[in-house]
Amino acid sequence: MKELAGKTAVVTGAASGIGRAMAERWAAAGMNVVLADIDEAALDVAVAEVSEVGPATGLRVDVTVASDVEALLALTVDCFDRAHLVCNNAGVAGPAGFAPHELTVEDWRWVLDVDLWGVIHGIRTFVPHLLEHGDGHIVNTASQAGLTSGSVISAAYYAAKHAVVALSECQFHDLATRATGVNVSVLCPGAVATNIMYDETRRPERFRVVPAPVATDHSEAVTAAMWDVIASGRPPREVAELVHDAVVNNEFYIYTDPNIVESVAARHRAIEQRGFPTTGRMDADVTGG
Ligand SMILES: NC(=O)c1ccc[n+]([C@@H]2O[C@H](COP(=O)([O-])OP(=O)(O)OC[C@H]3O[C@@H](n4cnc5c(N)ncnc54)[C@H](O)[C@@H]3O)[C@@H](O)[C@H]2O)c1
Repeated sequence: MKELAGKTAVVTGAASGIGRAMAERWAAAGMNVVLADIDEAALDVAVAEVSEVGPATGLRVDVTVASDVEALLALTVDCFDRAHLVCNNAGVAGPAGFAPHELTVEDWRWVLDVDLWGVIHGIRTFVPHLLEHGDGHIVNTASQAGLTSGSVISAAYYAAKHAVVALSECQFHDLATRATGVNVSVLCPGAVATNIMYDETRRPERFRVVPAPVATDHSEAVTAAMWDVIASGRPPREVAELVHDAVVNNEFYIYTDPNIVESVAARHRAIEQRGFPTTGRMDADVTGG
């Protein structure tokens, strides 16, 4: 989408981190911006700040709820007539350092519902609208954890993010056969300095585990190391700039850490040679390997 000015961007998870930086970047590009987030207080602040740059509105949305995402499209149409750029970005990391069998059913459901179903609801709701008017771009936020795997973060996160990459690739194939003016990118960031480690405070009631699972030595060590890795990650505004360039130049895979390519190549070599799975950058960063 070469021309952004005067068009409308919708961003989920827009109250913080990467989503907020994208909302600011789209406003700076002259777009109308619709911000959505589950955290209403932070959303109000973000909407007020983005409104200082250009037209913006916001809606409290839980992306795990289809009707909330449908309400987001309705608000967008009411305020700005149509959506053009849709960033399915809201996400949570989930409890770090637990083995796949140690995560509770609620942990699995929460992470998959936000990180995967949030994107699915965004696509099911907005893509028919974009196809109808034929001028749009979708950015799905996955992660480098969608291209590699490991034993840090949560297995639910790796699973959800791999699914978002696959889903985005399927979306690409579908749009290519339709030859429409609608394109898709998948954002696969490495560490970015955001509030993602505070995600427990955004866990909806129905996904809460009572009593909370007991932390293990491994989960505590991994969580502590992840705080440091995330805190020293790239600034969100640099990520927003990369996303901007990818949208304007219609690039599909968006990386924020050039070193990810080595871990992707190692993973693919193992698959081609039927070796054992390799781990990705996040494991190396967290374990100091
Ligand atoms: N920070 C990183 O290192 C990193 C790396 C790779 C991928 N990502 C991905 O980037 C995206 C943005 O995360 P971030 O790092 O900016 O974190 P962040 O916590 O700063 O922002 C995420 C936003 O999503 C919102 N959110 C959480 N659950 C929601 C729900 N159910 N409905 C609507 N909004 C919800 C939060 O309130 C928050 O404002 C996520 O998809 C994350 O997985 C982040």
